[in-house]
Amino acid sequence: MGADAEAESGQIGKQRPVTVGVPREIAEGERRVALVPQVVGRLRSRGLTVVVEPGAGLGALIPDEAYAAAGAVLGDPWTTDVILTVTPPTSEQVPRLRPGTVLIGFLAPLTAPETVADLRAAGVHGFAMEAVPRISRAQSMDALSSQANVAGYRSVLVAAEYLTRYFPMLTTAAGTVKPATVLVLGVGVAGLQALATAKRLGARTTGYDVRPEVAEQVRSLGAQWLDLGIEAAGEGGYARELTEDERTEQQKRLEEAITGFDVVITTANVPGRRAPTLVTAAAVAGMRPGSVVVDLAGESGGNCALTTPGATVVHHDVTVTSPLNLPASMPEHASELYARNVVALLELMLDDSGALVPERIAGGDDEVLVGSCVTREGRT
Ligand code: NAI
Repeated sequence: MGADAEAESGQIGKQRPVTVGVPREIAEGERRVALVPQVVGRLRSRGLTVVVEPGAGLGALIPDEAYAAAGAVLGDPWTTDVILTVTPPTSEQVPRLRPGTVLIGFLAPLTAPETVADLRAAGVHGFAMEAVPRISRAQSMDALSSQANVAGYRSVLVAAEYLTRYFPMLTTAAGTVKPATVLVLGVGVAGLQALATAKRLGARTTGYDVRPEVAEQVRSLGAQWLDLGIEAAGEGGYARELTEDERTEQQKRLEEAITGFDVVITTANVPGRRAPTLVTAAAVAGMRPGSVVVDLAGESGGNCALTTPGATVVHHDVTVTSPLNLPASMPEHASELYARNVVALLELMLDDSGALVPERIAGGDDEVLVGSCVTREGRT
């Protein structure tokens, strides 16, 4: 708007409210939405205008009317100052982003660097939720954790669905049923939630990880700790990749251990690397018929040698299933928690009047923004 037009509309000296857009997610099977009506009010109270694409919430069963009732405007979200997404924009969507737009979402900087290159070329200020530092102050913005929690919970329900046996111990007139035994390999956020959920269903639980500090957390959930004597704590609270020798040793020891379990849930990941193979074909062959392996690492190649990412296969009467994007299978709570994460990150970029702070949207001035900013306007 030119100075004359601004004067005419009485806008001189007044700041135009920051607009926040929420597009409909178009990735296959994606039912989540980046903002839910409960959180719209939080942005409106800071003076921001929220523009939601019609139908954006339908996958999560949120009708347009619910957004309108919360004070959002239904319209084109691609012309706003800030865009909130769950998945990275496609190559068709990137050209719709204007230079200087702030884009917040899972942008896959390690696994889809070409998207980041496109965003950089488009002059977008891109903030990747995967790259939010895992520090105490940023816990409310930790979308990896909020979504991993959903995946961990769902993985147990998937296992129970395929298992030909009960999870809990039952004492009935027809006799006593022993509880299922569940082994969780890789006990980060998803693994801890899987242990807790399996316990709630009555299973006998065991956890294993290469980070020794996890043992205490596993025990605090009433689970046993499987100690294979291989330690591989890496940087930033993550595991490091094992050496060839360590990997061979680990697979051998796990092969023996896995035989006794009804359910094995795997969640092991090393950031930016292919997921380690923890469950060999021989280990699956050693499981009792009717047992189940749920491999949550399918997106990074899988932790089981027999995994086909996104599919369910049966070997020796053992089901090996690797569902992709489990958080999208529980879109209501997954979206609600994700929305709180993205809005908490956006709030770091705002001043008291609800305006975007230039140094902050350029990824400076704050450790969390420095860490999560993957592209910025005017920098290559
Ligand atoms: P992740 O998804 O990267 O990996 C899952 C688990 O797999 C990890 O526990 C890892 O140690 C394990 N793993 C990797 N390679 C393995 C192998 N070869 N064998 C067995 N296990 C293997 O991890 P996630 O869930 O993202 O958590 C990573 C860390 O971040 C954890 O230490 C967690 O406590 C920490 N964290 C810190 C937060 C904070 O302070 N704000 C918030 C959330 C997580």
